[in-house]
Amino acid sequence: MSAPKRYDLLIINGPNLGHIGKRDQKTYGHLGMDALDSILKNKMPGIDSRIKRGYFQANGEGQIIDRLERAWEDKIQGLVINPGAYTHTSLALGDCLAWIGIPYVEVHLSNIWSREDIRRRNMTAENSLGVISGFGIMSYALGLEALVWHLDQRDTE
Ligand code: DQA
Repeated sequence: MSAPKRYDLLIINGPNLGHIGKRDQKTYGHLGMDALDSILKNKMPGIDSRIKRGYFQANGEGQIIDRLERAWEDKIQGLVINPGAYTHTSLALGDCLAWIGIPYVEVHLSNIWSREDIRRRNMTAENSLGVISGFGIMSYALGLEALVWHLDQRDTE
């Protein structure tokens, strides 16, 4: 049997997600992005050992699109993206995710369907593998696990 594949993945956070763990803790939780590394290391070592992951955060729509285009040029194999409020507004981001064709899981800290009506509108998930929403920082870990599962399946087809 061949060794399990390793994947080159990128985690992207959109606007107002530069201070996760500090921002509105009642809605978004008190754990920051650093907790993701310990969750992966301690609870999901199988996933942790199989991914090379980069992080990117930007508040501007264009900066995120520039980074996504670079991920496409660099042949990044998968994305976990939390587009923040652009989820609900950004046709440009939705268009970008559509054309670059990198498999992605959309994640949210909060459950966007249990909040205000505007947050049910979604411009970014149409081309996603799926959405994980409502588990705080754990949404990212579950997103990475789902992504690895998908890539493994795809590669054995
Ligand atoms: C969010 C949900 C969005 O509605 C909101 O605008 C955010 C964070 C989340 O992770 O729960 O900035 O994406």
